[in-house]
Amino acid sequence: MTYLTTWTADTRPRLLEETTDPARIAAVLAGISVRFERWPLAPGLPAGTGAEEILAAYRSRIDALTAAEGFVLVDVAALHPTGAANWREVAAAARERFLAEHTHDDDEIRFFAAGSGVFYLHVDERVQAVRCEAGDLISVPKGTTHWFDMGVDPDFAAVRFFRAEDGWVGAFTGSDIATRIPDFDALARRAASAAQPRAGKAAAAS
Ligand SMILES: [Fe+2]
Repeated sequence: MTYLTTWTADTRPRLLEETTDPARIAAVLAGISVRFERWPLAPGLPAGTGAEEILAAYRSRIDALTAAEGFVLVDVAALHPTGAANWREVAAAARERFLAEHTHDDDEIRFFAAGSGVFYLHVDERVQAVRCEAGDLISVPKGTTHWFDMGVDPDFAAVRFFRAEDGWVGAFTGSDIATRIPDFDALARRAASAAQPRAGKAAAAS
């Protein structure tokens, strides 16, 4: 379930709101010019489905979005736990790339076909932390300060849309704000706790 938390962007961030309501999430994000929508999940795609199969499964929606927005390149970024001896190193290196606050010269558009990842959007002295799940499309406008966390055990497949063949690079702001807001794994624990019935939470706390 998609999960949005809103934080103050100061030295001791405070939680201002948390919600799993897709309409509320879309409204909050629309307020900062971030596009968010849900696509129906294609049936019958097992975990670890390859890029070509994912692109084929969503072809009509991908083509429509591409035609409307003028994208020239669409691909799939995917990472799934492999069990290999070097998995933690591979995962840590991938996670590190966009874990600090940065901007891009073009929009960052992702459709999560599987798994999850958190986009953190730092706008107007707030940080909107959006844990995207399979079925979520999010578009971060160019110039928006943001970062992305895939967690210590990345497990996701995301369709990426580009307006230039060479994609984009991150322009890092040098801010340490990403270290002050709960990360992917902390938000996952928080979401799981929030989803527990009240009695369950009391039992877990005792
Ligand atoms: Fe980015």
